[in-house]
Amino acid sequence: MVPFFLTFARVSCLLSFLPDRENTSTITTDSPVGATLSSSVVDAWTSLPAEVRAALVKMEMASSSSSSTTNSPSQRDCSYASLSSFASSSNNSTSSETDDSGSGGKDSTEEVTIVEEDKESGVKVVLKPLERAPENVFSFTKEQTKEITAVEKTPGTLVTTKTSILTCSKGWRNVFSLPIAYDVNLVPHGTILDPRNPQLLDSTGPSPEGYNRRFAVIDDAVDRLYGDKIRAYFQVNGIELTTCILTGGEADKRPAAVDKLLDSLCDYKLRRREPFLAIGGGVLLDIAGMGACLYRRGVPFVRVPTTLLAIVDASVGVKNGVDYCCGVTDETYKNRVGSFYAPSSCLLDASFIATQDARNICNGFGEIIKLALVRSVDLFELLETHGAALVKSRFSSSTPGVPEWVGSRIIDLSIQIMLEELGPNLWEKKLERCVDYGHTFSKLLEMVPGADVMHGEAVNIDGFFCCVFSYLRGYIPMETVQRVFACMKSVSLPTNSQDLTSKLAWQSCKDAVEHRHGEQRIPLITDIGESICVSDITQDELDRALELMKRFDH
Ligand SMILES: NC(=O)c1ccc[n+]([C@@H]2O[C@H](COP(=O)([O-])OP(=O)(O)OC[C@H]3O[C@@H](n4cnc5c(N)ncnc54)[C@H](O)[C@@H]3O)[C@@H](O)[C@H]2O)c1
Ligand SMILES: [Zn+2]
Repeated sequence: MVPFFLTFARVSCLLSFLPDRENTSTITTDSPVGATLSSSVVDAWTSLPAEVRAALVKMEMASSSSSSTTNSPSQRDCSYASLSSFASSSNNSTSSETDDSGSGGKDSTEEVTIVEEDKESGVKVVLKPLERAPENVFSFTKEQTKEITAVEKTPGTLVTTKTSILTCSKGWRNVFSLPIAYDVNLVPHGTILDPRNPQLLDSTGPSPEGYNRRFAVIDDAVDRLYGDKIRAYFQVNGIELTTCILTGGEADKRPAAVDKLLDSLCDYKLRRREPFLAIGGGVLLDIAGMGACLYRRGVPFVRVPTTLLAIVDASVGVKNGVDYCCGVTDETYKNRVGSFYAPSSCLLDASFIATQDARNICNGFGEIIKLALVRSVDLFELLETHGAALVKSRFSSSTPGVPEWVGSRIIDLSIQIMLEELGPNLWEKKLERCVDYGHTFSKLLEMVPGADVMHGEAVNIDGFFCCVFSYLRGYIPMETVQRVFACMKSVSLPTNSQDLTSKLAWQSCKDAVEHRHGEQRIPLITDIGESICVSDITQDELDRALELMKRFDH
């Protein structure tokens, strides 16, 4: 299993009471110690375009073979080209190799090596690019030196033994970066199902793999409202459409829905490069993304969001997932199972909003207010001034008293802010995310058994709770809290819930620590449009905020 290992122990003794006592032993282990390049170095390397990496490796290999360096992994004291120096070469600084081997002279058989040392973990990795895939595949040797301190107490003496263990192993590393690019297309209002508009057809390829067929997974409400139009669209274009209908709503966002989609995809025999369409709200899109990611280990899919919330939020990122009921605890966890998997494209036609009921439109405003609070006072002002009228008119461009451009400006701004925040952090390596505003306490609120709260509503309750927090901490004045409260109320969003108890709030903080890798990292606003993340919220503070929430007229 392990290519090779070598273990060696050096033992030295520190004696507190018996200065002349010495104790030696040899420790053997057959478990090689895992090691990785520090993520910043791998990031720097993988962020370079493939051709730049190839050129750098070639350059490095050439310079290595023409230099006097002897740098095989077994000669660890010799010189090394480091991965970080490869990366920095793209910034016009050259990778450096020094020769302290004292060997002088050049040897064309010498190979380039890359060394990564992590002082904290004591891991040193020496990588050699393989000739046939030098950009991606490296053979390596890893060494880890671990210090172990043991204290032995005998009557009258305390013996401290420090053991230094060196573990070596070898293997291969594959470094690969996936190119992620997808277009979020704004489709001219109300034209997506017009057979003369080819966008829906073209997004899935002119004739995927030579077949005049398409597969679409569709939300049941959307199918009732738009099914005939969707079928007519494909029929007019000479395409045979196969559909899988799934129910919308959080209650059915479960693995069973993904199974149903996978059954349909198997039955249809969707090919590896044949994109399918996902038409529906955030729930349908999350299920479809997960199915796309799993079927044949990943097939392309196109998102067509049909709710305000999905248009401004669920359709623009790369996340998918379902709620999961754990067989052990019998508890259901929000979005616990899923993946990061990009769509091939998104087609956004805001005319779908016209058939949503008022509560669902307000639900979408929950995510939009969140974005405004953390990033944009301009967006907040638009919501403050026109939100109520737009709910009433279902985002019609001819809303009485609202300039024609306002509805689309709100949608455009929201999508742009989302993408600006998600774009550089698609895999959420950075856990301090302002778009997580309203997503700390809402997760448990949504999962309270029998709770009648939608996602955007729960996000809004959480968002207002966090505003109250900001006030208690002195980050914002009471006038700002009142202004936020008024805006939320104007679009008929709830700002409190009887389920938001001290217990739930504190459990949410603990869950946040678990989910956000050891710290709460809860976004709070410092002004409308400005935010920070905090990790020191106490239970007492939560209780004071809950108390203050009661003062508002809910
Ligand atoms: N993946 C992400 O990045 C992301 C981001 C935000 C939210 N989400 C998820 O999105 C979900 C919420 O999405 P949602 O609010 O769209 O809920 P939803 O998908 O359940 O849709 C709400 C209801 O509207 C119906 N519906 C859909 N389109 C309609 C239309 N045009 N006209 C009339 N009815 C229509 C649906 O059948 C459903 O009953 C949550 O599960 C949330 O976790 C995901
Ligand atoms: Zn959300």
